[in-house]
Amino acid sequence: MKQIITSIDLGSFTIKVLIAQVYLSKIEIIGIGTSESKGIKEGEILNIEQLTKSLLSAIKEAENMSGIKITSCVVNISSKHIKGENSKGISTITNEDRVITQNDVNRAVENAKDIYLPSEYQLLHVLSREYTVDKKSNVMDPIGMTGFRLEADVHIVIVPKVFVNTIYKIFSRIGIDVEHIILNSIASSEAAVKESEKNSGCILIDFGFGITDVCVFVDGGIYHTFSLALGSSYLTSDIEYAYKIPFEIAEFVKRRDGVATVAEVDPTQRIWLPAMIGSNRKLIYLKDLAEILEARLEEIFSIIDKFIKIKIDKNLLSGGVILTGGGSLLLGITKVAEKIFGLHSRIGKPFGIEGLFSEVQSPEFSTSVGMLKFFVKQISEDLNSTESFKNESTKIEKKLLKKIKSWMENI
Ligand SMILES: Nc1ncnc2c1ncn2[C@@H]1O[C@H](COP(=O)(O)OP(=O)(O)OP(=O)(O)O)[C@@H](O)[C@H]1O
Ligand SMILES: [Mg+2]
Repeated sequence: MKQIITSIDLGSFTIKVLIAQVYLSKIEIIGIGTSESKGIKEGEILNIEQLTKSLLSAIKEAENMSGIKITSCVVNISSKHIKGENSKGISTITNEDRVITQNDVNRAVENAKDIYLPSEYQLLHVLSREYTVDKKSNVMDPIGMTGFRLEADVHIVIVPKVFVNTIYKIFSRIGIDVEHIILNSIASSEAAVKESEKNSGCILIDFGFGITDVCVFVDGGIYHTFSLALGSSYLTSDIEYAYKIPFEIAEFVKRRDGVATVAEVDPTQRIWLPAMIGSNRKLIYLKDLAEILEARLEEIFSIIDKFIKIKIDKNLLSGGVILTGGGSLLLGITKVAEKIFGLHSRIGKPFGIEGLFSEVQSPEFSTSVGMLKFFVKQISEDLNSTESFKNESTKIEKKLLKKIKSWMENI
């Protein structure tokens, strides 16, 4: 049966709504809605009334395009206050045959959740990275292996309760159920990062308007997540101040003429800034504009690099840097990333979906598409683990029945 799912990206620049139908894990986009974001700053919701208006407009557009009324959705969350940390949990294998079951995995992961949780925070994600069975590490799927001790390495994301409550409040006011809240960087990486890159170790950077979300993969699993309240809006503000023009015009110039690498610009080339009422048109050197953009990008990437180096040896990240989010559309941005991170870099666009694909095949839609993919994966994993849990229960029931039968026979 086809199932309808909706993702809503609460971006600081644009609200993006995608309606998709899912059949046998295939995702087909059938509705898109976008609106100018109001009431969100640096990923955080600051004005419920304004945001609700923006949301309703994007929702209406997607509903009209698909002919479907949205009743539930998955939503992203992003803030510099969200924390990610690694933890370990252990379970002892007590079955007679010492074969590891879903139940043992669940217990190990459950034990890994036992971290210090400040009272104003709650768990958002508990993501398994790898397992160790007795002395054997780097195990991806321990079910069916034999051992005495199972250790789960997980990445845990915790969020301030108030952020989650605000999201529920807004959506309950507009009569839409929130089925899942997903960390922005995790969603974006689901859409834009290839499995091979995750396995080689890589850095996903979602360079948005008001916030930059980072997710680092090591050996296929999520090792580090963090967000910085810095985004492409800083580049626009720099242009605004340098040429004394309104923010909207600076935004236009950044998109039309912006290049992130001075070395790639003809030093003699000049461009006209758009005309403004009451002032003369200005002619500027493209090289000067590039200098402004490159300097700010270098600064932002250097901060990210510093945060990563504290936690991870960059030799473990041969999969390189994947830049996504609207800010990654700036020409020449990968060159700056390569210079600062010392790693190969590429632009990550969403892949692995069908339907109205060309419209959303832009880095701006990585979070929205990633939420759909993450949610579908989650549903099928939950189904599988319930199935294998059911099978285990039936196995145990059968064993018990056999035992009872033999007792009865003995009696
Ligand atoms: N062609 C382009 N060149 C340079 N920058 C661009 C281009 N197109 C979009 N951008 C920038 O992308 C940013 C918007 O990106 P995106 O839609 O990913 O942000 P958002 O998800 O709404 O915000 P956030 O993730 O920060 O909450 C804006 O700052 C915009 O200037
Ligand atoms: Mg975003």
